[in-house]
Amino acid sequence: MALVLGIESSCDETAVALVDSDRCIVAQRIASQDAEHAPFGGVVPEIAARAHAERLAPMIDGVLTDANIALTDCDAIAATAGPGLIGGVMVGLVSAKALAMATDIPLIAVNHLEGHALSPRLADESIDFPYALLLVSGGHCQILRVEGVGQYRRLATTIDDALGEAFDKTAKILKLGFPGGPAVERKAMEGNPRAVPLPRPMVGSGEPHFSFAGLKSAVLRAHESGRYEVADIAASFQQAAVDCVTDRLRIALRSMTSVDTLVVAGGVAANATVRGALEKLAADHGMRFAAPPPALCTDNAAMIAWAGIERLGQSDPLDISARPRWPLDPEAEPVRGAGVKA
Ligand SMILES: Nc1ncnc2c1ncn2[C@@H]1O[C@H](COP(=O)(O)OP(=O)(O)OP(=O)(O)O)[C@@H](O)[C@H]1O
Ligand SMILES: [Mg+2]
Repeated sequence: MALVLGIESSCDETAVALVDSDRCIVAQRIASQDAEHAPFGGVVPEIAARAHAERLAPMIDGVLTDANIALTDCDAIAATAGPGLIGGVMVGLVSAKALAMATDIPLIAVNHLEGHALSPRLADESIDFPYALLLVSGGHCQILRVEGVGQYRRLATTIDDALGEAFDKTAKILKLGFPGGPAVERKAMEGNPRAVPLPRPMVGSGEPHFSFAGLKSAVLRAHESGRYEVADIAASFQQAAVDCVTDRLRIALRSMTSVDTLVVAGGVAANATVRGALEKLAADHGMRFAAPPPALCTDNAAMIAWAGIERLGQSDPLDISARPRWPLDPEAEPVRGAGVKA
């Protein structure tokens, strides 16, 4: 049995985990930086990098102690090498390089998005390639055909905001606090999802891409009008977002042949309304639906260690660079209006 140490530091979670090839999360620790970033209403890169630098080494030590193993018992050290906030990524990657150099254990530089993309396979051994993946996180909103480890075909992306970003901005407009996604979900439970007329950007388009900027602006206008309850706006926003996602997926699935499983991953996959709608969509298409448990949806190091397990046998050179951008499908055509989003 193989054992991999995983390190995640690409945004505002410092996380370390030990995962074995039997899909057991042997030990893990996650330190959230919510308290540090909350006063600013969003993640401040410099604060994030400093917090990772302070916390990471004791957390690595702590995870090894929790599991009662030595670093030399590991078969590889897997660390997020991008995409993400570059200061934080460098803290995690350089730490992993130092450990790899000191122990002669192979380093595996993991694409954070691949961590999300493969996380359903950590949770459920019966998920085989290929599968359809909706990747919905703070920085990304994509539909991909996952053909194997390292083989991703992107069918859709967002031309402006990611879905998690839209939740976060909605939370900010409605003053629901930080982090925004779970706060919007909680507030939405008290509201009527049909109370506020909101647009469904891109719905009806023959291309499966996403757009959420117009929805966010409509949330702002609805709030400023003073005509609606906050809970009704939250619920109506969430419903509009879900309608967009299911419509876009319907279009994308038309061109995805020989795929019988629909998988959702990334932070927004923790949202129960999103999960419920996708489960129904999958059933309508005669597909199986899979979603990792919520704790594996938001950033964590178990998914990074698991990506390392999936890549065992490979290793990366100690001079590999951290990458602020790192698309899963480098061949994907840029989308009109897509700015700099991967
Ligand atoms: N219950 C929820 N409902 C809706 N959104 C949620 C929920 N929980 C988390 N999110 C959203 O998920 C995002 C965080 O996900 P994740 O940690 O995967 O993103 P990230 O790592 O910042 O971005 P990326 O993975 O694209 O680099 C945030 O935008 C957050 O608001
Ligand atoms: Mg993430």
